[in-house]
Amino acid sequence: MNKKHITLFYKLFFVTVLILTLTFIMSFYLVQDTIKNLSVNQSIELLSGHNNYLANLDPNSDKTVLDNYAKKHAVRITYIFKNGKIAFDSDNNASEMENHLNRPEIKEALHNKTGQGVRYSNTMKKQMLYIAWALPDYVLRTSIALKNIDDPIRSSVRKLLFFHIILLTIAIILIYKTTQTITRPLNKLTESIIKFGKGEKIEKLKVIANDEVGMLTDSFNKMSIQLTEDLKELKRLENIRKEFIANASHELKTPLTTINGFLETLENGAIDDPENNRRFIQIIKKNSNRLKTLVEDMLNLSAIENNKVEKKEVTISLVMNTLIEDMNLTDMVNIRIINNNKSLKVMAKEDDIYLAMQNYIDNAIKYCPNSEIEIIIKKLNNYLYFAVKDSGPGIEEKYQDRLFERFYRPDKTRSQDKGGTGLGLSIVKNVIKKYGGSVGLESEKDKGSIFYFTLPLVKS
Ligand SMILES: Nc1ncnc2c1ncn2[C@@H]1O[C@H](COP(=O)(O)OP(=O)(O)O)[C@@H](O)[C@H]1O
Ligand SMILES: [Mg+2]
Repeated sequence: MNKKHITLFYKLFFVTVLILTLTFIMSFYLVQDTIKNLSVNQSIELLSGHNNYLANLDPNSDKTVLDNYAKKHAVRITYIFKNGKIAFDSDNNASEMENHLNRPEIKEALHNKTGQGVRYSNTMKKQMLYIAWALPDYVLRTSIALKNIDDPIRSSVRKLLFFHIILLTIAIILIYKTTQTITRPLNKLTESIIKFGKGEKIEKLKVIANDEVGMLTDSFNKMSIQLTEDLKELKRLENIRKEFIANASHELKTPLTTINGFLETLENGAIDDPENNRRFIQIIKKNSNRLKTLVEDMLNLSAIENNKVEKKEVTISLVMNTLIEDMNLTDMVNIRIINNNKSLKVMAKEDDIYLAMQNYIDNAIKYCPNSEIEIIIKKLNNYLYFAVKDSGPGIEEKYQDRLFERFYRPDKTRSQDKGGTGLGLSIVKNVIKKYGGSVGLESEKDKGSIFYFTLPLVKS
């Protein structure tokens, strides 16, 4: 089961609604407070104006004036005796009203000359603003209903709420659109990553926007391409390795089996058979030599592959001289060495270059008996060009592509007869590749071959 997760949209949605609502509540209180203060202050001023005028009137003699005044200005007027009894009230019958000494604004006025307050009036059954002044004989109190104050607040809050809802709607639409531009490519990316993780083939993802998500998508594309290529290369190398082990085991087993077989035959009596025993021993010797060359070639190959590249200046003519001596080339009348430039140098390990040149020459001698052989050393652009040309049997075109592969021999029996292992050309190829050169072959059946390699020259 998937662990439940809250989507990006809902997260942003809730945060935004929360912030906007808090803002709304704060504005509501701020607006309410400001308007209330403003109105109360205005009303206090208004009531004070009334008080100024009313302070000079007498609640006993001026009742009609007071009643008219109260009606005209929508204000409630009360005169209270200092003992709390009511002398006059514009909205009620004074004699039926309770004692007012406990009213906070009256208490305050008796104490401080003036008093004021906002409270629920039991008499009027509504919120009222009161202003009370202590006069010589009475306390004069005027008041108005606070409904007049609350009305503008209510309408402001209504407008505020309206804007709040519009703002919320816009915000939610924007969030929805924005999160979609993020989540859509992210979902695609996740899908691709899961697929890729399972080893399935994936398509290159489209980079939609030039933002962080776009960068992520682009990086993923590059990474997956690189990884796929690396994986292919690893598989290729792994196949080469497997093939090599299989081939090598087979190549080693063949001479060993022969040796074992003839040893057993000798042991079982053939050693006393004067007609055959020497011949059997010769066969054993030949096969053990074959094993030796095979192991030597394999060691050479692994040395070339594993050794660190330790380069020194190698003078090709000097290597050639050593080869002439080691292979007795001067004794062979059919070999011509064409070397007009004795100073050509390459950066390499001398043993490696020796091996490469030796293998080409050795093949020409082995596989092209009675043919003319030319060894060519020359400068070609900034490269050394080394070639061995023969007029031997040549190599059919269908075999040429694979000729430099390990253990590959078009004619295995012939190669084995000549003491070949099938590793010579792959040794050449590995050496030359290691030092930044290339190998090649031009050949036609029955018309001879040119095996060549090039290597970057040391500038002189
Ligand atoms: N100069 C040549 N002329 C004809 N065939 C050749 C020549 N050089 C190499 N070959 C062929 O290429 C094969 C592979 O050569 P190589 O890798 O040196 O292995 P090996 O010599 O041990 O058989 C040889 O078996 C041979 O068939
Ligand atoms: Mg060879």
